[in-house]
Amino acid sequence: MDTLERFAEAKLAALSEQQLRRTLHETAPCGPVRVKRNGRPLISFCSNDYLNLSQHPAVKRAAVEATERWGAGAGSSRLVTGNHPLFAELERRLARLKGTDDACVFGSGYLANLGIVPTLVGAGDLIVADELSHACLRAGAALSRSHVEIFRHNDLDHVEDLLATHRASHERALLLTDGVFSMDGDLAPVAALAEIAAAHDTWLMTDDAHGSAWSAAGAARVFAAAPRPRCRCRWARCRRRSAAMAAISARRRR
Ligand SMILES: Cc1ncc(COP(=O)(O)O)c(C=O)c1O
Repeated sequence: MDTLERFAEAKLAALSEQQLRRTLHETAPCGPVRVKRNGRPLISFCSNDYLNLSQHPAVKRAAVEATERWGAGAGSSRLVTGNHPLFAELERRLARLKGTDDACVFGSGYLANLGIVPTLVGAGDLIVADELSHACLRAGAALSRSHVEIFRHNDLDHVEDLLATHRASHERALLLTDGVFSMDGDLAPVAALAEIAAAHDTWLMTDDAHGSAWSAAGAARVFAAAPRPRCRCRWARCRRRSAAMAAISARRRR
């Protein structure tokens, strides 16, 4: 057995011992919210396709027509092959839905956070993040090489303390939170966070992956309604509600 195999076996054994070893279960969709796993019909409560748009006849028809016209697959990244006209149209329509000037589509929610966070902050900057923020916000924070401070879930006093202590020694600062928390379904106090962020010259970014299901604009609505002056940069993100869209980021003009 070579070192790679030995390593793999030891790692899998350790994961099994801690009951952390994951396996994939073949699960076939059978129409709206119903699936079949190991021959058992089940109702799925874990999909992100809340509105069942993946099954909407107009969505399916548009996907078939686009495939017939343009073929399947992107070929390469749009920076390399050029921007496909469908991206421009999709981003225009998403910006309209979100009430923003523009939007940028990413391949997935995870990729959006990996891309956006290090674009905004880097070494020498500060990130203050809710302890229950999705793992990909934390991964984006780690990738950015910023100094990261974690605040107790939705605890505004703790956010205030951390910014009062750390903000002055960093050039830029970014406050990160989910808009609707993915595991518990509770909401971040976005308006209050925006006040605190603005008072400390800190940008606020919300992961709105689950926000768009209950409001088309998601957290962007809170940003739009909040009194000025606001934080300097306002981002909202939404994730797919159909099979077609992965994730967007959008910013409202000041
Ligand atoms: C709040 C939040 N952000 C990001 C993600 C990652 O999104 P994706 O599965 O599209 O990569 C998830 C996934 O469930 C999520 O709940």
